Formats: sequence, structure tokens, C-alpha cells
Amino acid sequence: MKQLIDDSLPAFSTVMKEMGLSDIGWEGLLGPATVEDHGDAAMPCHSLSRELKRSPGDIADEICSLISPLLGEVAIVSSINGFVNLKAVPSWLSSKASSLLSDPRIGVGEGGRLTIAVDYSAPNVAKEMHVGHLRSTVIGDALVRMLEFKGHLVHRENHVGDWGTPFGMLIEHLLDLGEDEAANELGVGDLDSFYKQARVKFVSDAEFADRSRSRVVLLQGGDAETLRLWRVLVDESMRYFNEVYSMLGVLLTDDDIMGESYYQDLLPTVVERLSNSGMLENSEGADVVFPGGWKNRDGEPLPMIIRKADGGFNYSTSDLACIIDRVERLECDQFLYVVGTPQKQHFEMVFQVARKAGFMDDRHSSIHVNFGSVLDTDGRVLKSREGEVIKLHDLLSEAVIRANSAIEEKNPELIGEQRNNVASMVGIGAVKYADLSTERTKDYVFEWEKMLSFEGNTAPYLQYAHARICSIFRKWAGERSEIPDFEISCCEPEESNLARRLVRFPSALDETISTFSPHKLCTHLHSVASAFASFYEACQVLGSGDEAVEKSRLALCELTAKQLELGLGLLGIGVPEKM
Ligand code: ARG
Repeated sequence: MKQLIDDSLPAFSTVMKEMGLSDIGWEGLLGPATVEDHGDAAMPCHSLSRELKRSPGDIADEICSLISPLLGEVAIVSSINGFVNLKAVPSWLSSKASSLLSDPRIGVGEGGRLTIAVDYSAPNVAKEMHVGHLRSTVIGDALVRMLEFKGHLVHRENHVGDWGTPFGMLIEHLLDLGEDEAANELGVGDLDSFYKQARVKFVSDAEFADRSRSRVVLLQGGDAETLRLWRVLVDESMRYFNEVYSMLGVLLTDDDIMGESYYQDLLPTVVERLSNSGMLENSEGADVVFPGGWKNRDGEPLPMIIRKADGGFNYSTSDLACIIDRVERLECDQFLYVVGTPQKQHFEMVFQVARKAGFMDDRHSSIHVNFGSVLDTDGRVLKSREGEVIKLHDLLSEAVIRANSAIEEKNPELIGEQRNNVASMVGIGAVKYADLSTERTKDYVFEWEKMLSFEGNTAPYLQYAHARICSIFRKWAGERSEIPDFEISCCEPEESNLARRLVRFPSALDETISTFSPHKLCTHLHSVASAFASFYEACQVLGSGDEAVEKSRLALCELTAKQLELGLGLLGIGVPEKM
């Protein structure tokens, strides 16, 4: 618990000086306790043992007895197995919780000063968005919200796949079908079958394949009519993607589209700069660079192809151009790429080449915020019943339908428009939360029952805790807006325990952001909601007869509700007042 550690440091400083340990960098030893029962923070004394030539247990005992009188207002100190343990006292918890309650930002600082590009979502035109794009969209959206909340300047960058050789066959197929018919097929989200039909013709029909190749040349040459047809493909696909974005309630808009096509004009610059830096080599007619340290299957050095023998550019080339753009036009300090783990090598090579070529330097950090796959209950990559890519639109609609019936069962009084709104918050929230609450780099299993359950580490559980608090406020006769002035005073253990969780919010959020790990915020919010459930069971909030107690408990409720609302909001999840 960072705040507890901060408040204890002066006392430690005094004691360490007294023991002759001022200069050994002991500050880093103080950290969160690993055994929650022992305390909130701890200092292991094992490394001090060498310095003092005494046993860790002995040292911990001495620190404990010297520091206890100094920390009376902050923590109870104990010495266990060579650790000095600090357990926050109720009065300290009460005053910290009270100060968070009166702060609309709940203690979260606003000092972020970086300019950050977040590259996320990035589906491919005329192809279905797959669950990997869903993960990227949901994780990227949460990171953007958190970074902006901390005060950073964030550029949302939707690097859609809207360029390349497949567009030759896609345009020819569009012409074969007739523009209106094709637009219709794409606009309703039948992207995969459109792509597949084009592909089938391309491999089976030589005349079609020839037309497609000439079309690529026209596209790259900037032929006006070809570009118009290309636009139709892009716009119709974006219409479908936007529908998915709006169902998900993410921040992405058309202004954030920074597709591969945008970087085309910069590609010759990439080649020129690589050539000037002496990195570009010719290999069988292609322009390549060897980043060094990578081998192909035969053990030979692995090149990165910059320009193919036929003159076409590669995915890596546009990512290099993209770095130049983000450094020189957007003046970013940091670039985050929210993309699945299978592209790990691609990004490592791109970053390596970009640094070596001087496209970015020590002032810039580039991070592949990678993530694992979404699996079905048999442990295979999630597919539709027919073995096809799942249509995200259908998946999200199903989430809302299922949430609707779950709510109908739980609260039959909620009807009509109101229930539909709640169902959409709960259904979409459940899908997002299931994704965000698992450690990002791990695979996770997509399970409707589990994610929509009102028990466990789920969105509905957290949303329900929030709704429950709102219903307490509805029953209470007072003005909710006055609660932030009430004083929190923890007496019962369940009150202290709830406060203990609540005061961790700012550091939980900081840790989430510094590791780009939304699951850490989820774990924190879940711990708050479950501490609230125990508190609510043990402590009567309204009508206890003691005004100070009632006010303090209402204040704990309010801080819990605000924290759930803000925390879930930063994850892109809404909180209904009734459900
Ligand atoms: N469109 C790509 C895909 O679907 C993802 C692009 C990720 N961003 C990037 N700058 N490479 O795999």
C-alpha cells in the first residue's frame, strides 16, 4: 500500500539512522505485504542481516520495537519471520478514505505529460473483424481512457489494413458483382464471404487473376476510377466496423483511421533513408535489411523485406513509415501497439530496424502491448458453429440478448427501454470485462455463463454492487451530493477492511497503467466489491439510530460507488443505477 509506505518513511528514516543503516538504500525494501493477514506493507530484513551480522529475526524485532511508538497514528507494527509488518490502523484508514471521498479524481494524479500514440483495433478492409481485433479494440480503448485520465496527450491510431495486392482482386470482384450489390454485401458485414469469393476466382480463373494484377498496378499508379472503387470497399467495410464500435461503445471515430494507405507516400522515404544509412541490401531483386540476430528455419540470417522484387512494399515497410510519422509529425514520446502475440517478431524486428536507422532514438519508447488468444471451452481458437470466423456483430448482439434474460429473471420490475439500456451495459460490459480481467498475455476461454454471472470476478457482479448502493441512496431521505462532506470513521473490522481496499485505488491504477495491464484494475475493483458485500452484510447502513455512524457508512458506500463508476468507466464499462 503505497500511501501507507509514504506515511511511514519518516519514522523508518529515524530508526534506520539510529541503527547505523542510513546509507544502505533500505527504502527499496519497503513494499506491499505478501501475506495479507500479516499486514498491508512489509520490510524484509534478510539483506540487512549481512550488514549487521545478526539474524533477520533479531533485526526485525529491534526495528519493530523502535518504530512502534513513532507510528502509533499510522500502523500497528509486528515482527514475523524476519519481516517488519505494518498494518494500517482504523483511524489512518478513516482519514485517508475521507480525503479520497472529497476528491472527484479519487486521489489519482493528473501529471502525465507524454504524447502517446496508441495503435489499436486495426481490422482489415473487406475481411471480418475477428476476436483478436475485439481484444485489441477493448484493451486499446481502456488504455486510452486511463492514459488520458492521467493527463497524457493520446493519439488514437486505427491502423486498418486498407492497402496491398489483395485489393486488385477485391476491386475486380466488386465490378463483377455490380457496385450496389457488392456495397450491400459488405455493408451488412458479409465481409468474409466477399473476400472468399474473390479469392476463389483469383485461384481458379486466369482471366480474373490477370485483371486483378492489372488492377493492382492501376491502384498503385493512382488511377482515379480505381481509387474510387477502392474507396467503396473501404467505406462500406468501415460502415460495418463502425457499427461494431458503436455496439462496443469505444472512443474510436473516423478521425482515428490511420490505415496502411495513409503511409504510401512515405514509403519511398523509408527506402531512401535506409539506403542512406547503408542498411539496405539487394537480395534476389528485392530491397532488404538484415536487423541481425534473427534466423530463418534453415539457420540463415533473416531479412526484413522492404521492397519486393515486383516493386510492391510490405507490411513492415508501412510500419516503419508509421514510426517516422509518429516521431516527426505527431512528436510522440511513446508508441503502444495493441496487437496479438503472433506479431511479436514482426514488431521486434521493426523496432530494431527503426532504431538502427535513426527513425527513433532514446527519447522514444515503442512497446508491443501483446495479448493472447480467445479460446472456446474445448481450448481451441474461438470460431462459429460452422467453423467460420465469428461475426463480432452477432457475438455482441447475443451478449445483450443473454443479459436481457438474466436481468428479467433477477429484476422483473425493470421493463421496456430501461431494461434494454441496462441489458446493453451488462451484456457488452460482461464481454469487455471477461477480456480485460485476464492477464493480457494469457489466452482466455470465452464462456457466456461465467462472464454473465452475478457472482465472481465479472462485470455484472461489480455493476450489481454499484446498483445496490444506488438503491440505498434512493431509500435514504438525504441529498447524495452532500455525502462527500461526511466523515468516515471505521469501527467495525468490515468497515476497516473496505476502507483498506478503497485507499489502494490510486496506486492500483498507476500500476495498471505502468504495466499496460487492465486486469490489475479489475482485480482491485473486484476486491472492493467483495469487501463491500461483507461490509453490507455486517453493518447496517440506514436506520442504525446513530447519526455519525449512518453518515460514515453512507460515506463508505459513496466512495465505493464512485470508485466502481470511475474504475469501470476507465475500462470502458458503464454502471447502471438499477439492475
Ligand atoms: N491489420 C493488422 C492485422 O489485422 C494489425 C495492424 C496492427 N498495427 C500495426 N501498426 N501493424 O493483423
